[in-house]
Amino acid sequence: MAGYLCFFIFMSSVLPFTDASFDFASYYADHMVLQMAPAKAIIWGYGDVGAFVTVSIYKDYNGLMKKTVQVGGNADIWKVALDPVDHGGPYVLYAEQFFRGGVTSITLQDIYFGDVWLCGGQSNMEMTVLQVFNSTKELAEAYLYPHVRLFTASLVQARVELYDLDKVDLQWSVPTPETLGQGQFTYFSAVCWLFGRNLYDILKYPIGLVESCWGGTPVEAWSSARSLEKCGLSIHIERQKRNTSYYDYSYYGPEVYSVLWNAMIHPLLNMTMKGVIWYQGEANTNLNTELYNCTFPAMIEDWRTSFHEGSEGQTDRYFPFGFVQLSTNQKSESNDNFPIIRWHQTADFGYAPNSRMRNTFMAVAIDLCDETSPYGWCVCVGLVSLRRQAPVRVAAAVVLDCLPLLVKAKCVNGDGKGCKLHTERSGGIVDLELAGHVMRVTALTSVDRQVGLAVERVAFVRSLHCAGRLCVMQRWRKRSY
Ligand SMILES: *[C@@H]1O[C@H](CO)[C@@H](O)[C@H](O)[C@H]1NC(C)=O
Ligand SMILES: *[C@@H]1O[C@H](CO)[C@@H](O)[C@H](O)[C@H]1NC(C)=O
Ligand SMILES: *[C@@H]1O[C@H](CO)[C@@H](O)[C@H](O)[C@H]1NC(C)=O
Ligand SMILES: *[C@@H]1O[C@H](CO)[C@@H](O)[C@H](O)[C@H]1NC(C)=O
Repeated sequence: MAGYLCFFIFMSSVLPFTDASFDFASYYADHMVLQMAPAKAIIWGYGDVGAFVTVSIYKDYNGLMKKTVQVGGNADIWKVALDPVDHGGPYVLYAEQFFRGGVTSITLQDIYFGDVWLCGGQSNMEMTVLQVFNSTKELAEAYLYPHVRLFTASLVQARVELYDLDKVDLQWSVPTPETLGQGQFTYFSAVCWLFGRNLYDILKYPIGLVESCWGGTPVEAWSSARSLEKCGLSIHIERQKRNTSYYDYSYYGPEVYSVLWNAMIHPLLNMTMKGVIWYQGEANTNLNTELYNCTFPAMIEDWRTSFHEGSEGQTDRYFPFGFVQLSTNQKSESNDNFPIIRWHQTADFGYAPNSRMRNTFMAVAIDLCDETSPYGWCVCVGLVSLRRQAPVRVAAAVVLDCLPLLVKAKCVNGDGKGCKLHTERSGGIVDLELAGHVMRVTALTSVDRQVGLAVERVAFVRSLHCAGRLCVMQRWRKRSY
C-alpha cells in the first residue's frame, strides 16, 4: 500500500493537473472479488470525455495485463473487459487517466478473482448473521474466511433506471464479526454469508457476495417494466390503483413496481458475475399472488438477459439462479396464499429446475420455521421514544426490536372493538381499533408517529380473547416479510 501511495503523490506533484472526475463505478473498491475465468471481468468508471484510460493488473509488482480505452463519445464513461484470470490473488488494479497532458491515477488493493454472487429478495435474505442461531459462534468464525468478500447496496428506490448505485451500505470488505454483524435486517445477510461460506468450503477459491435486498418487497418492485408487461402488469395502472400516500414504508419495503429494479439491480448489470440467490415471495401472498407463476419466472429470464447484455456477454446468459421455497408461516392461515406462492415458485411444476425455469435450484425450508424466534412474530406496540426525523430504517429496527409474543390488551369499551394495548415490556399505551383482521392504531401517546404507522401495517390480529376488560391477543402475523 505504502509503495503505491508514494507513487501516487509523486505523480501528482510532477503533474499538477489532476481531475476529480476520474473514478471507478461505485462497486469497484479495495478487497473486491472480480469474476474469474473463463469470463472476462468488466471494469468501468467515469472520466473526461476524450481522455485515455489504462487499467492494469499487478501481482507482486509484476504487471500482468494492461488495457487502454478512450472515455466514450458523449458520455463520461469508460469500460474495459479484462483478459480472463483464473481464481486467486491478491492483485492490484491500477487505473490511470491521461487527459490534456495530465495524469490521474487510482489504485485498488487486495483484489481477488473468484465467483461473484448476487443475493436478492426480501427480509429473509436481509436478516443478518447477528440474528441467526449461534450467531456469536458464526460471527467469530468470520476470520476463517478471509477470501469470502462482502458488499451491500444501500436501500434506494428510483422511478427511473439508474446506471450506478446511488449509495453503498457496506463497501467491499473482508469478513469480520463487525462487518458481518452490523445490526438487525441491515447487513450482512445471513443466508448470503452462509451460502458463500459453504461455496468456499467446497470450491476453495475466493467468493464475492453482493447483497442487494429489502424487507417486505414484492417481486414487482424488483422487476423491470418489460418483464412485468409479459404478465399483463403495467406500472401506469398500478400507480393509479395504489393509494401510496396511505402506506408507510418504515416497516414494509417499497411495493411500487420496478423501483428496486431501477435503483438496486439495474446499476449492477455491468459487472460480470456468476449467479444469483433469491429469498422472496412472502410479500406476494398479498399482492398479485395468482400471477407469481408468471412474474417470478419472467423476472429470472429478464435478469438473465439484462446481466448478459450489461456485461457485454460476459455474465452467462443462463446463469444459475437459486431460491428458497417459502417455509411455513403460521399454524393456521385464513387463506392458501403461502401454498399458492410455493407452487408458483416452481412455475406450477412442483420442482425445479423445469422447462420454464432452466438452470435454477431450490432450497426447501418447509420444516425450518422457528416460532420462538424473537424476529419471527410481529408484535410490537411498545412505546419507543425515537428522535423525530429518525431515519426510516431506525424506526423499523426499533419496532422489530421489541417483540413480545403476547400482548395484553385492555379494552376501553369491552366489546373488543376499541382496545388500549400495552406491551409487557414497555408498559406504554396505544389506542387501537380492530377491523376484521387488521389492527389500526388510532392514537398514540408519546410515540413517534413513524413507529405507530409501522405498527399499523405490521400488526394483524389473529384472535382476541377478552375476559371482562382484559384481552389477550394471539396469532399475530409472522414477521417473515
Ligand atoms: C449451535 O452450535 C452447537 C454447538 O456447535 C450445535 O450443536 C448446534 O447444532 C448449533 N445450533 C444450530 C441451530 O445450528
Ligand atoms: C387514500 O389515503 C388518504 C389518506 O392519505 C385517505 O383519506 C383516502 O381515503 C385514501 N383513499 C383510498 C381510495 O383508500
Ligand atoms: C398461474 O396460475 C393460475 C392459477 O393460480 C392459472 O390460472 C394461470 O394459468 C397460471 N399461469 C401461468 C403462466 O402458469
Ligand atoms: C450497463 O448496462 C446497461 C444495460 O445493458 C447499459 O444500458 C449501460 O450502457 C451499461 N453501462 C456501461 C457503463 O456500459
